Amino acid sequence: MSNPPRLRLTGIDKAFGATQALRGVDLEVAPGEVHALIGENGAGKSTLMKVLSGEFRPDAGHMEIDGSAYAPADTLDARRCGVAMIHQELSLAPHLSVWENIVLGAEPHRLGWIDRRAARAQARHVLARLEHEHLDLDRPAATFSIAEQQIIEIARSLLTEPRVLVMDEPTSSLTQADTARLFTVVDQLGAQGVSVIYISHFLEEVRRVARRFTVLKDGQKAGTGEVAGTAQAEIVRLMVGRDVQEFYPRRSPCIAEPLLELPTGGLLVRSGEILGIAGLVGAGRTELLRMTFGLDRSPTVRTTPARRWAAGVGFLSENRKEEGLMLPLSIAENTTLTKFPALARWGWLPARVMAGATQPWMESLSIKARDPHQAVGELSGGNQQKVALARLLAHPARVLLLDEPTRGIDVGSKAQIYDLIARLADQGCAVVMVSSYLPELFGMCDRIAVMHRGEVVACRPTAAWTEPTLMTAATGAAA
Ligand SMILES: Nc1ncnc2c1ncn2[C@@H]1O[C@H](COP(=O)(O)OP(=O)(O)OP(=O)(O)O)[C@@H](O)[C@H]1O
Ligand SMILES: [Mg+2]
Repeated sequence: MSNPPRLRLTGIDKAFGATQALRGVDLEVAPGEVHALIGENGAGKSTLMKVLSGEFRPDAGHMEIDGSAYAPADTLDARRCGVAMIHQELSLAPHLSVWENIVLGAEPHRLGWIDRRAARAQARHVLARLEHEHLDLDRPAATFSIAEQQIIEIARSLLTEPRVLVMDEPTSSLTQADTARLFTVVDQLGAQGVSVIYISHFLEEVRRVARRFTVLKDGQKAGTGEVAGTAQAEIVRLMVGRDVQEFYPRRSPCIAEPLLELPTGGLLVRSGEILGIAGLVGAGRTELLRMTFGLDRSPTVRTTPARRWAAGVGFLSENRKEEGLMLPLSIAENTTLTKFPALARWGWLPARVMAGATQPWMESLSIKARDPHQAVGELSGGNQQKVALARLLAHPARVLLLDEPTRGIDVGSKAQIYDLIARLADQGCAVVMVSSYLPELFGMCDRIAVMHRGEVVACRPTAAWTEPTLMTAATGAAA
């Protein structure tokens, strides 16, 4: 290469106590290149990007930007050097307005005061670059949809004119239409010379946005190459270390008696059945599950989560951080607290017993951690999601309400989770599964219901749907 690459990382090491998260990792990205960083849950992707964006200091290794040594003191310093990161978990200040969020930490000043007029102009300018200049600058961030919050988050990262922009799983809460819009934005940024590092578990996305890829496995670089010249199966093999073939389990469902009625249109779920719920963001899919579980009030269902739980209904929230997991507690505590409510109420359960009950789940879901006593907050995003699932499945339930059960989960583990869900259905559970990932609904479900504006507009056997007819129904047009 005659010109230096935009970014060159050499021999990066990073350990957290006894966990060696990164081992001698190299990465090179050209100016304007969109580079995909892929790998299993816990492979070290977020850690590597946090080293790059100044959140962690590496234990060893060297970084260069445009040929000059780069060693950020912290994230602000990294932003000044042209590196911005959009985190796996959205990080907007919910009560601050759009413009305040966008300029946060980089506010323009005039005579010692924040120059509101300049700040608003800057905010509008970056939103225009993303074709979202219509967003109301004064509304609090929390009042926007997840997709819009994602745009605000990207706008914020563009404010400091980054030379390198890191996106850690930016589409995990987006619908197809919003994802397509985001890809256009990524294309534009690339064309404007911004180098983008794009983390995703969706290989079809990688194929769409990225030119080159690097695979991490167990903290080491397992391979790198051109996306166009590499077969999907080869990338999966680099990630997982084996072939993943049978992706969706083959089932011959034995559908029996109804176990639960959903509070919309009298939809019944039966024993042995997997019912999928499709719809756009905001269509009311999550609300439907929350009402069914008694978390939100409903005109037709009068129940409480405690009563539902006692009756054998389990619920997996899409928002594992707020409702799902207790991050400072261990994997074992999180997994078993619901299993032994009586004991847990007195605040004491032998650690040995908890660990013993947890170990099988760590194996069947491949939860990557030091041991069952590690705090959930120290796990990678995907592994936290697996703990939330383990906690639900450890409790014997007859009906499972799952909201985006595989969000943030890697390809190999997805196959394992699908197997588990299928096995539970085959044992007589009724499963209701909300997902924004259509291939998963088509691969797993016996019937798919489509929601629009809070109502189920159609429910058919999966074989009676195609992706286009389903999308049409989801937009509210008569299907
Ligand atoms: N603050 C921390 N304390 C202790 N260990 C950590 C911490 N952050 C990350 N780790 C460990 O480092 C390893 C790599 O985690 P990382 O979050 O980088 O994975 P990832 O590739 O981003 O995975 P995912 O796809 O699940 O997001 C994991 O074993 C994780 O448990
Ligand atoms: Mg991560």
